[in-house]
Amino acid sequence: MKKLFLFVAMIFLFAGLSAQKFDQVAMTPPMGWNSWNKYACNVSESLIIGMADAMVSSGMKDAGYEYIVIDDCWQVSRDENGEIVVDKDRFPHGMKYVADYVHSKGLKFGIYSCAGSLTCQRRPGGLGHEYQDARTYARWGVDYLKYDWCNSSTQDAKSSYTNMRDALYAAGRPIVFSICEWGSNKPWEWAGKVGNLWRTTGDISDSWNSMINIFEQQKDLARYAGPGRWNDPDMLEVGNGGMTTEEYKTHFSLWCMLAAPLIAGNDLANMTPEIKSILMNKELIAVNQDTMGRQGVCYRDNGDYQIWIKPLANKDKAVCLLNKSDEKKTVLVDFELLAQTSRGRWGFGADKEIKLGDFIIRDLWDHKDLTLKDPATYVELLPHTVKVYRFIKK
Ligand code: GLA
Repeated sequence: MKKLFLFVAMIFLFAGLSAQKFDQVAMTPPMGWNSWNKYACNVSESLIIGMADAMVSSGMKDAGYEYIVIDDCWQVSRDENGEIVVDKDRFPHGMKYVADYVHSKGLKFGIYSCAGSLTCQRRPGGLGHEYQDARTYARWGVDYLKYDWCNSSTQDAKSSYTNMRDALYAAGRPIVFSICEWGSNKPWEWAGKVGNLWRTTGDISDSWNSMINIFEQQKDLARYAGPGRWNDPDMLEVGNGGMTTEEYKTHFSLWCMLAAPLIAGNDLANMTPEIKSILMNKELIAVNQDTMGRQGVCYRDNGDYQIWIKPLANKDKAVCLLNKSDEKKTVLVDFELLAQTSRGRWGFGADKEIKLGDFIIRDLWDHKDLTLKDPATYVELLPHTVKVYRFIKK
């Protein structure tokens, strides 16, 4: 009887140990680069090595970008033992070689697979090979796994992703687990215990409409995000050519306000000074990477004109004014009220004890402190643009 009890206790202990995600992973939103948005299936060893080099030489690494992630199409088949086979023409030295190279640059390495039988580009998926693949990834030195949802047929999303989480944990190498099931099964409700980030919508494309539509769908999700678990409104399109510079500034600002993962998707080796100044806006990145890990919330929604607030550590906050419309807007902004506004657990409140004078207000695109003649001041917002201010507690 005693033996049986011990046996049962051991099983519970083991299950408890294996059924979890890695601790202390992605404590701020992951930052990096992914091949999909610009290169789609056109991935290769030389592309990835070139991007790792450019990540360092462009200054992106110093700005905080860390992961180099190969998306779909690196895999071609499985061998007789079920091991995943890398495309030899495109990756002649195999995947460990690429991972080692990325690591030699002081960066981290990410890869892509799918919870279904085939990936979205119909390459072999992970279904039925979860533990085997997790061991392979650990052996290669993978630090980040994006796991897609194509060809998942009647699979249950939560248990499929939980299975892969457990496989990664059992393989023993801490890996950021990026759940990509497009928000189909409300992952925000269950994925906090399963992965580190989860897509909330379908795929982004390089247009204002696509970007702003995805942004609109993030409104009610703030409470699910925090250190180690992030809503993912998809990767950045900044620098891919389909939006104006001002629209890309808006795209980047909104993703920073949302505490979204900042995964660039452009050609890092050929960036204009404007694109560099967006992706490497360190003051905005600091808002995104704030240690408190709070996602910004919509404070005023006048349709075309919105105000978003993101609470930051040390009683700072970021405030973003957004003009979604095609017309210029001149808005009267009550900075005193914004200074007093704080976000509690149940909503916004105003603390009359707090004064505008308690803060320095910094414009995060002009990189200047504001000098306000009047606490209520008119601000001009061109079409599709934002103003982002950091209220810095003195
Ligand atoms: C899905 C994902 C994309 C990308 C492609 C690759 O559409 O949502 O982000 O990974 O698959 O095939």
